[in-house]
Amino acid sequence: MESDIVHLTSDSTSLIVRCAPFAEILYWGQRLNGYSADDVISLGRAVPNGRVDVDAPVNFSADSGRGSFGTPGVEGHRDGLDWSPVFNTIDVIQQGNQLTIVTQDPHAGLQLRSELRLDDSGVLQMRNALTSQKAGKYQVTRLAVTLPLPERADEVMAFHGRWIKEFQPHRTRLEHGGVIQENRRGKTSSEYFPAMMIGHHGFSEQQGEVWGMHLGWSGNHRLRADIKTDGRRLMQAEALYFPGEQMLEQGETLETPWLYASYSASGLNPMSQQFHRFVRDQILRFPAEKPRPVHLNTWEGIYFDHDPDYIMQMATESAALGVERFIIDDGWFRGRADDRAALGDWYLDEKKYPHGLKPVIDHVKNLGMEFGIWVEPEMINLDSDLYRQHPEWLLALPGYQQPSGRHQFVLDLNNPQVFDYLLERMSWLLGEHDVDYVKWDMNREIVQPGHQGRAALTMQTQQFYRLLDVLGERFPQVEFESCASGGGRIDYEVLKRSHRFWASDNNDALERQIIQRGMSYFFPPEVMGSHIGNKLCHATSRQHSIEFRGLTALFGHMGIELDPVKEGEAERAGFARYTRLHQKLRGLLHSGTVYRVDHPDDTILINGVVSQNQDQAVFLVSQLAMPTWSLPGNLRVPGLDTQARYRVSILDAPQLLANGQPGHTMRKQPDWMQQPPELSAEWLEKAGLALPVLDPESALLLHFERV
Ligand code: DGJ
Repeated sequence: MESDIVHLTSDSTSLIVRCAPFAEILYWGQRLNGYSADDVISLGRAVPNGRVDVDAPVNFSADSGRGSFGTPGVEGHRDGLDWSPVFNTIDVIQQGNQLTIVTQDPHAGLQLRSELRLDDSGVLQMRNALTSQKAGKYQVTRLAVTLPLPERADEVMAFHGRWIKEFQPHRTRLEHGGVIQENRRGKTSSEYFPAMMIGHHGFSEQQGEVWGMHLGWSGNHRLRADIKTDGRRLMQAEALYFPGEQMLEQGETLETPWLYASYSASGLNPMSQQFHRFVRDQILRFPAEKPRPVHLNTWEGIYFDHDPDYIMQMATESAALGVERFIIDDGWFRGRADDRAALGDWYLDEKKYPHGLKPVIDHVKNLGMEFGIWVEPEMINLDSDLYRQHPEWLLALPGYQQPSGRHQFVLDLNNPQVFDYLLERMSWLLGEHDVDYVKWDMNREIVQPGHQGRAALTMQTQQFYRLLDVLGERFPQVEFESCASGGGRIDYEVLKRSHRFWASDNNDALERQIIQRGMSYFFPPEVMGSHIGNKLCHATSRQHSIEFRGLTALFGHMGIELDPVKEGEAERAGFARYTRLHQKLRGLLHSGTVYRVDHPDDTILINGVVSQNQDQAVFLVSQLAMPTWSLPGNLRVPGLDTQARYRVSILDAPQLLANGQPGHTMRKQPDWMQQPPELSAEWLEKAGLALPVLDPESALLLHFERV
């Protein structure tokens, strides 16, 4: 049976699959160099007393009909029949590191096609496709992807969140009964980013084994980290379906979204680095290879108050700060005075813009900047011409009064007339104006997503993808940002057709440190929109120095979000300074290897980026709150070439340190800060640099350059 066992490998990872008589993952972990297919005999399990008399595998479809009592991977029925399928292999196709296994249950009239790809980055992609092969509608209630984990995977890390507080990590032990995360908000959601990291307890950024997964899907999802009563563990991921949403006629197929999974033998850093490389190689498609331009977004500067002359003044000031892309946010279309009206009416507000958009765009372009504009195409206000003409265009269930969200409702993209209308309006906007960038917003949760009475959320999500796909084909030069009240629609599937995420509507640098760190587990810096906001943060009313705001925004795709006309000299000098610093460092930040550094004091966050050739690196030490201890310990710098020496320099320090004054929390700076030294990478990694004592809500930026 040797040929039934397939070994997929990358530099870091091995995946061993038994393809027949049914499909089962036997091993997923650290790369095996001396493996032979005969070895798998060692994995044949005992059969314990007191339960079914045969071994019950966790196969690809986790068949309950084999005597496995966990949650099956396929659930459904054909008018009450064919509800407990057992899938056996009928075909195996391997092409390099891609494996397709086709399994079938002829009694139930079902076929399951499972695709696995182990990318060079180490990321495993997997999805299942279920086909009904018998007459009579097969109603699918669940279709999941299942990956077994070893027994030592006993701690789960995932994210909770909400609007203006996205990507908040939390941990729980995987003991009895498992962990389930469900999102039913109709979009990827601020609440539950579709990911789990499961590892050996105590795993950290730099230590411990971790298996991470992300479901690339912008609708509802369920993720499960499960432990069976025999101690075996698994992860399972699926899109959630409403009752009756998935009915397969004979010959029809339903696919799961892609599940992306990454194994690391040494903490969360390699897991993230593999995901980042995968995103860079396989997901992201920028229209042009060029540095990510620094943004100025008008939202927190002027909100709905659009006056073209004033906006042009804002653009002039922005260009003077070094901004490279100017974006007018919400408020430009007919009747949009506040958030109660006009969504759906995608025509220029000629009262606000009597001479059209062209003068503004020309002005922006003449200043050497790109031009971007905000839209929210999936939405409609009842107070809009569109609703007055087409009240039947809502995604809703007849006979019910669904609640509004931000005073708005959702358009039914499954209605071809709606789709065509939006395509036509967006094509007008992008075709008749010199637009380089679209901020695509989506500001409500979806309640009762009905199309002709039936549940239609999956179709709605697919139509949203299709709309972006068609626009991407028609306007290949345009970049799209996925924004959903900030971080509500961030996932790999939407990233296939977009180029940036607005990470959060919260521009408070302190909050952003946590949100951005959370996002960094799955996304590289170049797709994370991070803006310097007003000194008085609009979301929290907290105030931070320009240094702390600037350094926090530096490590993403940077921008500024305020009204530059109204800012004073000191602030403007700060915007210009951090814009320049970002422009200097973005080549490194947007292509290098990301590290999060373990530190015993959780008031100190350290993250950095090392260039691919290890010639240089930047590390940011952020003091979030009052330090736990009076000394902050050493920064032990990971990722440098341990054969080389590096020149250490301080790129940016809080004013107290920069002026050489003893600070509030520190009498004397560490000796090396008087004259930054050249040190070996080995020393930097093993012994490190003594850190200065930083005041809360301040940060220090260090640079390392190969000598
Ligand atoms: C929510 C977004 O997250 C904000 O950045 C802004 O674009 C507003 N919508 C506009 O309505």
